[in-house]
Amino acid sequence: MTQPAFFRHLHHQPIGFIDSGVGGLSVLREVKKILPREQVIYIADAAFAPYGEKSEEAVCARMVKLTNYLLQQNIKALVIACNTATAAAIDSLRARYAIPIIGVEPAIKSAVAITQTKVVGVLATTGTLASKRFITLTQRHAQQVKLLKTACPDLVRQIEYEPFNCLETESLVRHYVTPMVAQGMDTLVLGCTHFPIVKSLMRTVTGNKVNILDTSLPVAHQLRKRLRNEYLLASDLHKGDLLLTTGDISTLNKFVPYAGLRKFKVQALTDF
Ligand code: DGL
Repeated sequence: MTQPAFFRHLHHQPIGFIDSGVGGLSVLREVKKILPREQVIYIADAAFAPYGEKSEEAVCARMVKLTNYLLQQNIKALVIACNTATAAAIDSLRARYAIPIIGVEPAIKSAVAITQTKVVGVLATTGTLASKRFITLTQRHAQQVKLLKTACPDLVRQIEYEPFNCLETESLVRHYVTPMVAQGMDTLVLGCTHFPIVKSLMRTVTGNKVNILDTSLPVAHQLRKRLRNEYLLASDLHKGDLLLTTGDISTLNKFVPYAGLRKFKVQALTDF
């Protein structure tokens, strides 16, 4: 008889996170607030970024490669902390691996439920907006609203480079968001995990009347529910998180305070 995971001590094992860069830290930050005992191995795949400008096949192959690496590090669950990679790869990864896999999707359904003006904006990557998963999502839930879809790869790049207290970031946010507000948008979906990092800037541009939807907290809740259901919740404090990057360590280091991490190591993931 197979023992429940709890008795096989899988609950002590880390949770893997993958994003093309620092965006997934917006999800990790919420996970850390509600699951402080969980140990995390986070991969910022900066060497292969931006995912949003790559083909679905290329992103999917990359996700398989990184997931295989994380499985060698004994992860008990995987968070695809990236809308683009979720759209491209979650079905293949779930078919391939038995561990719980949680993805991130633009909050279209919630936006449609709360919009009054029936004008909803979505900021995402080119890849997410073109994906079958996103098209199905909008066909299913957004037929009755005007959807303003905007791809903004330069904003992803800018956030990696310098998100906070930076005039370039502010003018890019204005460039994308102001025309949406002018068209009557009252609900803005942040469909890329990089964008919650500049949510307060978005708020400055939209004013208080626009709802800004970010999926980080719902994803953290979803993760907690899956871990609880599968007896995988960690019971003790861990020795520290591991942040890995296929790119430049200093970029990732800069975001540690934002992610609210205390015990952690930042290292380069070479040969990727
Ligand atoms: N953070 C990623 C997302 O949520 C994508 C950024 C990129 O294009 O690499 O879609």
